[in-house]
Amino acid sequence: MRINKYLAECGLGSRRACEQLVLDGRVAVNGKTADKLAFEINPENDKVSLDGKKVRPILKHLYIAFHKPKGCVTTTSDDKGRKTVIDYLPAKYKEKRIFPVGRLDYETEGLILLTTDGDTANRVMHPRHELAKTYAARLESDITEAELEKLRRGVELDGEKTKKCKVRRLESEEGQARIEVVISEGRNRQVRRMFEAVGKNVTFLKRTAIGEIRLGGLGRGECRELKTHEIEFLKRF
Ligand code: URA
Repeated sequence: MRINKYLAECGLGSRRACEQLVLDGRVAVNGKTADKLAFEINPENDKVSLDGKKVRPILKHLYIAFHKPKGCVTTTSDDKGRKTVIDYLPAKYKEKRIFPVGRLDYETEGLILLTTDGDTANRVMHPRHELAKTYAARLESDITEAELEKLRRGVELDGEKTKKCKVRRLESEEGQARIEVVISEGRNRQVRRMFEAVGKNVTFLKRTAIGEIRLGGLGRGECRELKTHEIEFLKRF
């Protein structure tokens, strides 16, 4: 690898800026000044220093948004042999130690994040942060305004009331209400069970956003790398 590219991967500035460090004679490889731009580095073996101080590449983590289809599990392997979210990823991501951030039910589709950054994942998932997750649900039948209000105020699941949440009606389809729900908890099958608590059956459930990160136009089974502002959003936790 070209020396300026290596220095840039060590976080010392743009490749252009790193060329100047080389030309200024500030960079040494295995103890000898390397002041030619054509210098090639073997990242495995060479010891590189700037002004006498050792430099190393910054570990780059991967942050992926994936549109989970229904019929797969959000784990890295499955003892029942079911498809996992990892099975859908391109080979270049599968080679990394990448894992899903949180869960989505087997029959739920939508946005799930995957990362190699365990620290950030753990912080984001911690219940105290109450990260907002947005779902679009289709019901078997219609639902009244009074029932929606009950959901907003909280319903009892396993003897504990759900926290206040946002609920709004989307355009319905032939008597089957479509409802958007934004919750900041992550209890097991929470959205489905909240509707069950008011006597409604969810026939389709999709997560459309996690905080500021939106599923957008990502097709089922497709993934994309998060944008810088989305990674920064996760790192704020
Ligand atoms: N609520 C559910 O019911 N299922 C999910 O997968 C996520 C939230």
